Amino acid sequence: MISKKIEENLGNSSWIRKMFEEGAKLKAIHGDDNVYDFSIGNPYFEPPTAVVENLKTIVNGDIKGLHRYMANAGYQEVREKVAAAVSENTKNKIPFSNVVMTVGAAGALNVALKTLLNPEEEVIVFSPFFVEYVFYIENHGGKTIITETDKSTFEPDLDAFAKNINAKTKAVIINSPNNPTGVIYSAETLKKMAAIIAEKEKAFGSTIFVLSDEPYSVIRYDNVELPHVFDYFKNVIIANSFSKSLGLAGERIGYLAASGLVDNIDLLMNGLIFSNRTLGFVNAPAIFQKVIGDSVNDTVDVNLYLERRDLLYNHLASLGFECVKPQGAFYLFPKAPIEDDVEFVMKAKEFNILAVPGSGFGCPGYFRLSYCIGTDTIENSKPAWEKLAAFYNMKK
Ligand SMILES: Cc1ncc(COP(=O)(O)O)c(C=O)c1O
Repeated sequence: MISKKIEENLGNSSWIRKMFEEGAKLKAIHGDDNVYDFSIGNPYFEPPTAVVENLKTIVNGDIKGLHRYMANAGYQEVREKVAAAVSENTKNKIPFSNVVMTVGAAGALNVALKTLLNPEEEVIVFSPFFVEYVFYIENHGGKTIITETDKSTFEPDLDAFAKNINAKTKAVIINSPNNPTGVIYSAETLKKMAAIIAEKEKAFGSTIFVLSDEPYSVIRYDNVELPHVFDYFKNVIIANSFSKSLGLAGERIGYLAASGLVDNIDLLMNGLIFSNRTLGFVNAPAIFQKVIGDSVNDTVDVNLYLERRDLLYNHLASLGFECVKPQGAFYLFPKAPIEDDVEFVMKAKEFNILAVPGSGFGCPGYFRLSYCIGTDTIENSKPAWEKLAAFYNMKK
């Protein structure tokens, strides 16, 4: 009755959702306080007061005309503010015309992929990756090429990257700070990636776009800088949103910002605006464009996430779990103590711990924990982690 492809995809549906649903069942049996749900990356904190105040001011002000259609790229004054914010830490500044307001980063990625891809063209992603990429690429007739990372750092394996580029390669998606590892790609890595791309473009006479998916860009710890992709790549488009930086995931507000160095930038921008329209988004939500325009440099309190990272990371490390210490985002991606990550996650569930298997991110043998939860949940979960570690005879 429905498309075979969708039916097939429903069968492989997201592990994150599956574990979230398992959590709801467990909570009904044991009570909320006795289930330790690390499964979903839904921002835990309310948006900053400044954002709430902006919203009130806008709604209480003169909003005549605010509910109407607008230019498909969004309000010019908001695009100007976003362009200024994106230009802040780069020598390659952009004008407002390089920005399109979108329905979150998810909308932004779909708009970019629709605009770029011819049938069967390939998009490289690095494992572990945000699983929705596979579906987004498939939405627009592309093929996902999964490429390894170095498991001691979770930075891209550059030899594997070079090997996976061919004449059909159209784009590379990078996601830093990364979901699920929390790793921030170093300037050195970006520089080497750019050199590989330039060399391959020359060899194949092609253009390879970098799509930089950055919804966690402001959630960084330990003073680690996020190298600006505009300083490293030529044909690069940033997909970003305010879902995590301002805790506005349900409001669906984000943007695409293309580098001024892109070949034929006018054609690209017209393509992106057309795709935003014809994917049926038409334009990004009006009121929240205005809200983020006034809050483009505000953020949730990153120290609250830092506190949670340290609580959880330190406890797991003390029990002997191996984990690359996250530099950003709000996830841990430890190695499972047994090879079968699904079996491990099912065992954890017996101790009322909900995690997501690494297989759900194209990286078996690991598991993801989201720490955008209350510190009390992390504290209360400690004995359960101890029992789980004891079950596997883990060494402290
Ligand atoms: C890596 C990554 N990209 C994109 C998204 C989508 O974010 P948005 O809510 O802005 O669509 C998410 C959401 O969790 C994410 O983790």
